[in-house]
Amino acid sequence: MTSVRRELTQGQWLEALGVDPFWIVDEQPTVKPVESGVSTPVADIQQDGASVDAAIKSCKQCGLARHRKQAVPGSGDQKAEWLLVGEAPGVDEDRAGLPFVGQSGQLLDAMLAALDLKRDQGVYLTNAVKCHPEENRTPTTDEMDLCNGYLNQQIDQIQPKVILALGRSAAYAVLGQEASIQSLRGAVRYRTQGEIRIPVVVTYHPAYLLREPAEKWKAWQDLLLARKAIDA
Ligand code: URA
Repeated sequence: MTSVRRELTQGQWLEALGVDPFWIVDEQPTVKPVESGVSTPVADIQQDGASVDAAIKSCKQCGLARHRKQAVPGSGDQKAEWLLVGEAPGVDEDRAGLPFVGQSGQLLDAMLAALDLKRDQGVYLTNAVKCHPEENRTPTTDEMDLCNGYLNQQIDQIQPKVILALGRSAAYAVLGQEASIQSLRGAVRYRTQGEIRIPVVVTYHPAYLLREPAEKWKAWQDLLLARKAIDA
């Protein structure tokens, strides 16, 4: 692995991330293709973004519907190159009806800004499950499986150039693999959906990065890898 010093222009984000704003060790991520086990069919019904959202909002497929204030389909650019998938709406998102409006969202915005991206320009944000699990618990694999049809429809609709899976639940929802982030990050994986094969990069959830700021530089590496995967 070569280490080179790399000048960054996105100092604001790096400061927000607690990384030295001017210099960062760039491990030169390489785009290593790894086939994931998942090969999902295209969504049964081709729908536009608004009807997918409407279906999610009225969904009662699982017990999460009983505790939510409202379902949170996702938000952003319907023609996004970047699809970011988190775990589940939190309390704030349940109240607002929008993904990533709390502290994790602020960090996510800073990460996007470092790539010259904004959540509504070239980016779409959604979650592995669209309803807030009571007491902020991790969604079960059954709940994620039941919700996966909506993710399929969103992917069909948006046709992103890369999917960034934020955390373990997102990695499961996108790749169908239950594994540690450590074992999944650092390589470009693929989600095959019908005729489409989309690069997937797994990284840490922003909530984890808020707890473990020393890991933020790894997330930066992952973002660079995802950007390379788009360009490749
Ligand atoms: N955490 C998530 O995983 N998703 C959100 O929308 C908010 C917090």
